[in-house]
Amino acid sequence: MSSLPKNVTLIEVGPRDGLQNEKNSIPTDQKLAFIHALQQAGLHEMEVTSFVSPKWVPQMSDSMEIMANIRKQGRQLVLTPNARGVENALRAGADSMAVFVGVSDTFNQHNINRTTEESVETLRPIIDQLKKDHHFVRACISTAFHCPYEGFIPQEQTLSLCRQFVDMGVDELSVADTDGMANPLASFTLFQELKQQFPNILLTAHFHDTRKLGLANIYASLQAGVDRFDTSAGGLGGCPFAPGATGNVATEDVLYLLESLNIETGVDMDKVCLAVDEVAPYLSRPIETAMYNLYKRRK
Ligand code: HMG
Ligand code: MG
Repeated sequence: MSSLPKNVTLIEVGPRDGLQNEKNSIPTDQKLAFIHALQQAGLHEMEVTSFVSPKWVPQMSDSMEIMANIRKQGRQLVLTPNARGVENALRAGADSMAVFVGVSDTFNQHNINRTTEESVETLRPIIDQLKKDHHFVRACISTAFHCPYEGFIPQEQTLSLCRQFVDMGVDELSVADTDGMANPLASFTLFQELKQQFPNILLTAHFHDTRKLGLANIYASLQAGVDRFDTSAGGLGGCPFAPGATGNVATEDVLYLLESLNIETGVDMDKVCLAVDEVAPYLSRPIETAMYNLYKRRK
């Protein structure tokens, strides 16, 4: 077994990626209880909400209330697609922004109504200003492996988009398998290349678990030297504009894998399951992750 990192950081995306696609309207207080329980579990980097158009993603329309009532702890990221989103986020007191762009033009058009190049050019001055003002900026790179509309994406195209954001001075790249079409070989190859080309950036892998290869992809990425993963408690999630894609790989199941490899995260698995209890009754579908099922049986 090649050498694996001793410590891994999990970036919890359940309150944002997890809930954005949920059909039932979740009460804001319940979202806050979920976020606070996740903090209690030891998750100190989290995507907590997004400042996007409420017409496009109604579930995230309470982002102002979320930010006004959230217990400040660690790095609280908010998703912002444009200047309007960043303005609102700053007014709400956010200081860490996640911008997002798809490698695939067609996906990007569906997701944010712009071509990839238009999005990059829109974001360039925004990122420049955010960095001048000392904000943390994460760039989420969607459809890094495959696009639900265009098919497989050439690796060079993904690397080229990542390079543009690294050159703009972002702090972190979160490189995403939006529709769960990555496999361990493709994950190892892309993340090894990203590690080599951008050794000085925080590099995070974001896997959706549509075909249940999320854990295998994480294991392959660990071997490529990745030590940061976006995960979602309860395996919630999916992008409303990526048809067929399901939730992110589940925080509690990733924890089981990492614990079995003696990799430290500082996150308590049972407390993650307790956090899932806060939202489970409000969801339109049951939670069926391996570790949450076992936790329920033990209760
Ligand atoms: P648009 O319709 O082209 O926007 O949408 P526009 O600039 O023409 O403005 C139209 C209206 O929206 C105007 O209001 C604007 O003020 C308003 P009106 O005059 O009609 O009343 N508006 C906004 N309102 C609130 N917040 C804003 C905002 N911007 C404009 N920020 C837009 C463009 C980007 C707004 C829209 O397409 C949008 O909100 N898309 C969001 C899509 C989204 O949230 N997708 C899910 C997150 S990405 C994801 O899940 C992938 C990820 O997990 C990684 C992976 O797995 O791949 C990160
Ligand atoms: Mg996602």
